[in-house]
Amino acid sequence: IIASFIGKSLAGRRVLITAGPTFEPIDPVRGITNLSSGKMGYALARAAREAGADVLLVSGPTALAAPYGVRRVDVQTAQQMYDAVMSQVAGQDVFIAVAAVADWRVANASSHKLKKDAGGAMPALVFEQNPDILASVAALANKPYCVGFAAESGNLLEFGRAKREKKGIPLLVGNIGPDTFGSDRNELVLFDQNGHAALPAAGKLDLARQLIREIASRLRA
Ligand code: CTP
Ligand code: CA
Repeated sequence: IIASFIGKSLAGRRVLITAGPTFEPIDPVRGITNLSSGKMGYALARAAREAGADVLLVSGPTALAAPYGVRRVDVQTAQQMYDAVMSQVAGQDVFIAVAAVADWRVANASSHKLKKDAGGAMPALVFEQNPDILASVAALANKPYCVGFAAESGNLLEFGRAKREKKGIPLLVGNIGPDTFGSDRNELVLFDQNGHAALPAAGKLDLARQLIREIASRLRA
């Protein structure tokens, strides 16, 4: 027990992480998804575990294996991810939302495969909004320390500051594009109540370890 505290910044802490894309069915063989390999979320799960945390990873479909010592719950849709997170969030110390969650699902998904010869008409998809998992956790009375991620295509510094405030979270991490998706490298900007600070380009595991150190020191503060 003593050894587990030495040099382990998250010893005794529980960390819940979402990672990967979500997949929203159109019919039994088709769906809508996001560009996310899951690599950044899985790297954070590994780094949090290395730091001594009890880590639960709620993951959309990815090609990755769960890091050593990390429990994983597999989901497909945003609604399933929301349900899994909400059923596990009690007692968590940290929630890190890394998943690229589909903002909309298909309201008129078909239970049978759509056929292209069905009268020549194009399928008309109707969308409805998915629940916002991070905002829902951040609104809980007994909330964990909440960390969000954002990949923006415009002015990251302006969008990042605004998104942190809108979500009501203490820390938002911006991915600096353009080639973050699927890559083993990344470059991050941290937004907190004091402003922003860069974590320069590095491997995703290296960045994940730096980010876990930042989170651990904010938890202690
Ligand atoms: N997020 C979430 N549930 C959603 C949508 C987003 O938990 N339904 C989380 C993501 O995991 C990420 C953060 O919210 O940590 C920001 O996601 P992003 O897509 O950048 O923000 P949105 O609020 O969805 O706004 P928009 O896509 O319109 O920019
Ligand atoms: Ca979104």
